[in-house]
Amino acid sequence: MYYQINGGKKLFGEVEIGGAKNCLLPLIASSVAIDGISEIDKCPPMTDVLNMIELLRRLGAKVEYGENRVQIDSRTINCVQVDENLSKKLRGSVLLLGALLARFKRAVVPLSGGCAIGKRPIDIHISALKRLGVTVEEENEKLYCDATNSKGNYVRLTYPSVGASENLITFASLTKGTTVLDNVAMEPEVVALEKFLVLAGAKISGVGSSRLEICGVEKLNSIFFSPIPDRIETATYLTACLMTQGKITLRNTCPLHVKCLIDLLPFDVVTCCDDCICVQTQRKIESFGKIVTGPYPMFATDMQSLVLSLSTVAMGQTLIFEKVFENRFSNCQELVKMGAKIDLFDDCATIFGVDQLCGADVKCSDLRSGAGLVLAGLNAKGTTRIFDVFHILRGYCDLAKNLNNLGSEIFEIKE
Ligand code: EPZ
Repeated sequence: MYYQINGGKKLFGEVEIGGAKNCLLPLIASSVAIDGISEIDKCPPMTDVLNMIELLRRLGAKVEYGENRVQIDSRTINCVQVDENLSKKLRGSVLLLGALLARFKRAVVPLSGGCAIGKRPIDIHISALKRLGVTVEEENEKLYCDATNSKGNYVRLTYPSVGASENLITFASLTKGTTVLDNVAMEPEVVALEKFLVLAGAKISGVGSSRLEICGVEKLNSIFFSPIPDRIETATYLTACLMTQGKITLRNTCPLHVKCLIDLLPFDVVTCCDDCICVQTQRKIESFGKIVTGPYPMFATDMQSLVLSLSTVAMGQTLIFEKVFENRFSNCQELVKMGAKIDLFDDCATIFGVDQLCGADVKCSDLRSGAGLVLAGLNAKGTTRIFDVFHILRGYCDLAKNLNNLGSEIFEIKE
């Protein structure tokens, strides 16, 4: 399937933000550590979410899913080997490592390898688990892990890795003794996982900070939990409005989580209340000077491709430094096909704003670059066709439908 976008349409109206993919994946994975039933709402059927649910079913969990709500009974799990083929489709499968080791003291997890944006190693996960007494053997591209003799310890992460933090927090929750995790990621999705585990009975102090003290408990109990709103989805619609002009309201979102983006914008363009954001502009946006991606609360790397597209039609020059992933500028060549003026050197893209992009045939290489190309197509004069949109469906359920409800003209065409 590909998207055909007739660009240049202004956007008006409202859009509801769904549960965050990068919150739902660790919550669903960590439910494996709960000896009971976990119920999670605001769970849209994104491809990654459906694949994570299938991974749990293949471990033996009883999972019911419908109407944006998932109910996971982990008491029936009878396997600690994560499905190899499915985990190749979903890098987030590595998040099952901490939960399986926590509950069953053993785990066999395929090395899911790199992806379009980078090598995605898991050395930080492994060295931290070893500090807690886990043995890790690699064989045939799989990790065989044993936590029989694990116990609490002090662990400092060499980099505040989101996935490593999530694995360690879940694992330490059921590891005897006290574990101190230092330099833990503070992304809102990581904090949400901390709250999820505390609600299930984990003893975690320092929730929301970069230093956690976790006293292992015997068991985690059944809970009901709501994920945080998707901040990247929020940034996507916000940026879509800035690239096409018009006025839209984003509902059921969290303005604080997109502060890094809002802070770049003129004060009269965005107004926020507790759970909604209103964005309106009838004029072109000024360029942003220098943007550097980094761990929260720095500028989010997942928003980089969105602001890259926006910069191509902002007035003036913008420098974007991508400091988190080594190959996250794949969109530049596609945007140049649409008339963008971008110089790329090492980890820095220099963008010189043009008046308007021109429609072209382009291809997305990953989830967030795909979203960036949709935004470019919304702005472009004429028609843009975006191929390999399956990447986009991994993290957005109704992107085309929601944008069309706001006034865009996107056709989903089966090849
Ligand atoms: C999570 O990936 C997100 N995925 C990513 O979103 C997001 O871009 C990333 O965090 C950063 O915010 C999910 O939550 C499912 P990291 P994760 O471990 O956990 C290096 C999307 O599009 N690193 O914080 O894999 C790594 O190579 C995705 O929704 C090591 O070197 O991110 C990268 O350069 C893309 N060794 C940097 O750290 C390790 O052991 C950040 O990775 C782990 C990470």
